[in-house]
Amino acid sequence: DVTMSLTFVVEPNAHPLSAAQRADLLVDPGFGRVFTDHMAIVRYSTDKGWHDARITARSPVTLEPAASVLHYAQEIFEGLKAYRRPQGAALFRPDANARRFRASARRLAMPELPEELFLESVRALVKADIDWIPQDEDGALYLRPFMFASEVFLGVKPASEYLYIVMASSVGRYFKGGPRAVSLWVTREYTRAAPGGTGAAKCGGNYAASLAAQADAISRGCDQVVFLDAAERRWIEELGGMNIFFVFDDGSIATPPLDGTILPGVTRDSILTLARDAGIAAREERYSIEQWQADAASGRLTEAFACGTAAVVTPIGRVQGEGIDFTINGERVGPTTQRIREALVAIQRGTAPDPHDWVEEL
Ligand code: COI
Repeated sequence: DVTMSLTFVVEPNAHPLSAAQRADLLVDPGFGRVFTDHMAIVRYSTDKGWHDARITARSPVTLEPAASVLHYAQEIFEGLKAYRRPQGAALFRPDANARRFRASARRLAMPELPEELFLESVRALVKADIDWIPQDEDGALYLRPFMFASEVFLGVKPASEYLYIVMASSVGRYFKGGPRAVSLWVTREYTRAAPGGTGAAKCGGNYAASLAAQADAISRGCDQVVFLDAAERRWIEELGGMNIFFVFDDGSIATPPLDGTILPGVTRDSILTLARDAGIAAREERYSIEQWQADAASGRLTEAFACGTAAVVTPIGRVQGEGIDFTINGERVGPTTQRIREALVAIQRGTAPDPHDWVEEL
């Protein structure tokens, strides 16, 4: 198979930013605004398969106005991080992202990128831009692999040509304002994904569909929107861009089950595993908004947190919506949230053993 032996031709950026310019950008990068010198790119066409794999200077992509992604949104993406190590860098569960990228491709009727090619693209880009990994304890290189239909055609069908690109962004925390509990707005107006839809795929369309609801949340002074299920409008699904966990007074934790409408988060999965390792009962079960309100009022619910590659583990301090307004744990980070966050981050940063072989050092 030609594809499997594809190696990345490295064309170094002839005009990289200077060390001083880079250092300036890394002081307070925020999230998703600072981009590195290089990108990985691979092309696909139905007749040639995967070809033309390169690491090259990050540069604009030229598209025909009729490129089908611009009309019918055939696009998928991933998010994963590279962390600084004394000698080099480390990736966290990149194989899980490679696998999910294939699953997303199937749902969007796109060609499945071989997992080894995904992994090679990420490794090669991190090596090219290793100096862009921030030094500080919240910093990382956020990798954004994505693929879109580039065929010039307005018929509605799976395209015959695609571009796969990986870019890298030096990041700090996702939420502005330092470590703090975030607030949520429960939308009754919008849903994110229906049974049979694309909710479990990481496609741009899901995020496009979330933006009006997310903007609504922001306009009400909240950080993230909470989506309820589309069928019954009761069951908590996920937030605008992250999964959610609940912590109870018996020490157990719970998160909504993967029933096809929820993004199967790598961080979500890692937390379930780490919690069980630590002897914490961790359930995947449906949890309704009514129950959440009642449990917050009675004290059965003691903490809640958001999780994702970008958000890591972020405490939830306040929940609002029509007829809903309650706070959780005095809007402070709770002990279980803190413990889970520390356990996860320690493995990612290499300060604790890695019993599940999640970390790949480069
Ligand atoms: C991530 O956590 O990596 C995400 O994809 C969330 C968001 C930035 C889209």
